[in-house]
Amino acid sequence: MTQRIAYVTGGTGGIGRAICTALAGRGCRVAALGHPADADAVAAWQAGDGAGIEVALADLADPVAAEAALADLHDRAGTPDILVNAAGITRDARFAKMTPGQWREVMAANLDAAFHVTQPLFAGMCERGFGRIVNIASVNGSRGQFGQANYAASKAGLHGLTMSLAREGARYGVTANTVSPGYIATAMTAGMRPDVLEAITGEIPAGRLGEPAEVARAVAFLCDDGAGYVTGANLPVNGGLYMGF
Ligand code: CAA
Repeated sequence: MTQRIAYVTGGTGGIGRAICTALAGRGCRVAALGHPADADAVAAWQAGDGAGIEVALADLADPVAAEAALADLHDRAGTPDILVNAAGITRDARFAKMTPGQWREVMAANLDAAFHVTQPLFAGMCERGFGRIVNIASVNGSRGQFGQANYAASKAGLHGLTMSLAREGARYGVTANTVSPGYIATAMTAGMRPDVLEAITGEIPAGRLGEPAEVARAVAFLCDDGAGYVTGANLPVNGGLYMGF
């Protein structure tokens, strides 16, 4: 079987690393896009668990930087069959206090970046007749969250992107799906106020935070060659925190 090539944005972050590991474990050649601010941590990761994963560092909110990073990865890792958009940030604040800068930063990193990376790759996937796109959203994109108007809007927007790509890609063998993690044990949740995180954890039916590997497993399923009839879906991985139908 042909070896699939996967690009993972946010691939050097908490959930992103687990996705890289899961896809590599399933035989993919994996390339990660990370933020330049994380260069030191990335070097340490590549010296350990991340060995063998190609990394390009770029601010994907910047279309020129995104284009350059994709060209660089293309030279080193080849043309991607799989794209996972896992790059994301939070700038939490009550809406009344949210600054235009906090709004824009989150939209740029969470939503604009997905456009900058997906658009140049999507046409090629359609031409070759195979593609798997997974956008990492959030439970809070589905249900909203106090203090996260920017983040929730960006993550809900990602699922709109997913559903539209699913419709445009379906006849060409290109699927697009969303995975919506709940509260996962990463630096992002570690950065929350401990009392707020504790209160939220108390509401999770599973009674605990999720593990990055639990999200990665769901992503790997959707990236599988055999998942070609699953498209436009949102797969929640949230310990039961929010259930929809
Ligand atoms: N529900 C209702 N009221 C709340 C509230 C809540 N969840 N949180 C705060 N408040 C109220 C307080 O009781 C207080 O009310 P009074 O003024 O009447 O006493 C008021 O809001 C405080 O307002 P402030 O603007 O001063 O808020 P703050 O600075 O204390 O906290 C916040 C604001 C940091 C955004 C905090 O609300 C918060 O941490 N919210 C949760 C954000 C969250 O879930 N982030 C997830 C990050 S991880 C992630 O995003 C990954 C993922 O996908 C899940």
